[in-house]
Order: sequence, then C-alpha cells, then structure tokens
Amino acid sequence: MESPEPHIDWRGAFTNAEVNRLHADAFDTGVFADDEWDWVSQTEQHSLGWVTARLGDDTLAGFVNVVTDGFVHAWLQDLMVDPRHQRSGIGVALVGEVRTRTQAAGCEWLHVDFDEHLRPFYFGACGFEPTTAGLIDLT
Ligand SMILES: CC(C)(COP(=O)(O)OP(=O)(O)OC[C@H]1O[C@@H](n2cnc3c(N)ncnc32)[C@H](O)[C@@H]1OP(=O)(O)O)[C@@H](O)C(=O)NCCC(=O)NCCS
Repeated sequence: MESPEPHIDWRGAFTNAEVNRLHADAFDTGVFADDEWDWVSQTEQHSLGWVTARLGDDTLAGFVNVVTDGFVHAWLQDLMVDPRHQRSGIGVALVGEVRTRTQAAGCEWLHVDFDEHLRPFYFGACGFEPTTAGLIDLT
C-alpha cells in the first residue's frame, strides 16, 4: 500500500496502547495489556532512546527501541512497522534515524539480530554488515 511520508521522531511521545497494538499487528501476536508490557516506563528507564513514525493523521505506523551499554555499543530492539504500511520505506527511515542519533550519542557500533528472511532489509537496505554473533535461548 502506498503511504504518505511518515513523520520520524527520536524519543517521540507514544502510549503503551499504541505500541502494544502495533506490536501485535507487526509480530502477529496477541495484544499485551498496558500493565503487561509497559513500553513507556521501560524505554524511559532503560533505553538510550526510541524512534516513532507517525502518519499525517497521527497514527503510529512504526517504532523501534534502542538500548545501549552506556558507552560505545547500541542495539536495535523491537523494530516494527504496521503491516498496512510496510514496504514503503518506514523501516529504513526508522533505522536511519537510529544510526544518526546513536552516532551523535558517541556510540561506535550499532547491533541487531534478525531472522534469515530479513537479510535483504538489514544488509541490503539498512547498511548492516554480516558478523558472527551468538544467542542462548533462556526460556
Ligand atoms: C522488518 C520491517 C520492520 C521492515 O519495515 P518496512 O517499512 O516494511 O521496510 P522498508 O519499506 O523500509 O524496506 C526497504 C527494503 O528492505 C527490503 N525488505 C523489507 N522488508 C522485507 C522483507 N520482509 N523481506 C525481504 N526484504 C525486505 C526490501 O528490499 C525493501 O525495499 P522494496 O520494498 O523496494 O523491495 C517490517 O517488515 C516489520 O515490521 N516486520 C515485522 C516485525 C519484524 O520482524 N521486525 C524485525 C525484528 S528483527
């Protein structure tokens, strides 16, 4: 679907209900209640920042959280774009804003991990380079 140019904001205001709805739509999960997943408190207390993408009618169409070690590393977490507005450049715009802001904050490395099918997005469209990384499933 063709979408109008989104408004991209570093640390833009959002509500838990908006992000929980967007998360459910983007990741195809149930909708978490505000007290189950409190994005507002979580990001205010633990994030370097976050980026919001809003459409002309103020709808939240995209979001990404950015965590950090407080020094030179930053990590992209929970990048999500409303399926109705995917493939219109919002994801790349969100990551571009993260790149600018983390660089400005003095970070030297931006990390992400993702499923195989998103290689064209992260490597092709966003400029990430392949690296060796590890993961342990703690569940
Ligand atoms: C991944 C995601 C954020 C991408 O957002 P988006 O706004 O659709 O991406 P963009 O429009 O900026 O994509 C730019 C380019 O990246 C590539 N790309 C994007 N999504 C892709 C996908 N699902 N598969 C393969 N390539 C993809 C394409 O080359 C695309 O350009 P094109 O549309 O001209 O072909 C979005 O699909 C999403 O929210 N997915 C569900 C949640 C998720 O998996 N998040 C990532 C967690 S690691």
